[in-house]
Amino acid sequence: MTRVAILISGGGSNMLRLVEAMQSDGFAEPVLVGSNDPSAGGLAKATALGVPTFAIDHRDFGKDRSAFEAELLKSLLAAQPDVLCLAGFMRVLTSDFVRHFDGRMLNIHPSLLPKYPGLHTHQRALDAKDKEAGCTVHQVTAELDAGPILGQARVPVLESDTAESLAARVLVQEHRLYPMVLRRFVAQDTSRIDL
Ligand code: GRF
Repeated sequence: MTRVAILISGGGSNMLRLVEAMQSDGFAEPVLVGSNDPSAGGLAKATALGVPTFAIDHRDFGKDRSAFEAELLKSLLAAQPDVLCLAGFMRVLTSDFVRHFDGRMLNIHPSLLPKYPGLHTHQRALDAKDKEAGCTVHQVTAELDAGPILGQARVPVLESDTAESLAARVLVQEHRLYPMVLRRFVAQDTSRIDL
């Protein structure tokens, strides 16, 4: 059974959908949920679903990104994951870290990449007066938010939208898209999903 670890930084709503999909359909096993923030609300949600968790506070390492990643890697590798999913994980990872999961690391980003890599994606779409927005699941490579796209979901942008209302509409699609992509990825199918 494919072993899947998930990294979060906050509420973990995407992580939750991934774990629930794996536990209900049995296409993979959620073996670990980790966070860079010990207060991340998603950790308790993972525990409630019986998934082991860990937290390593990146603030304990100051500017030493590689020391933080070395600790993160130790906890992750102990669970021997086959696939690593980033789900609302808000730390940029170095190419050294990414290399450990080359070709088996996914991320969800709240924009229609290649548009709007980085932060504040919804405000940027509003500022550009885009008529549509959405989310992307992609394979993680050393370049930020730039790996091969595995799936996208589109939503309309409404006149009345704020960054918050648009984020909420996109999040609903994230929760649909990510489990669908992970299921296919685990079955070695990288054909693109468009919702
Ligand atoms: C989501 O918009 C996700 O796209 C972004 O972080 C937000 C919160 O994700 N990466 P979650 O609820 O913690 O999964």
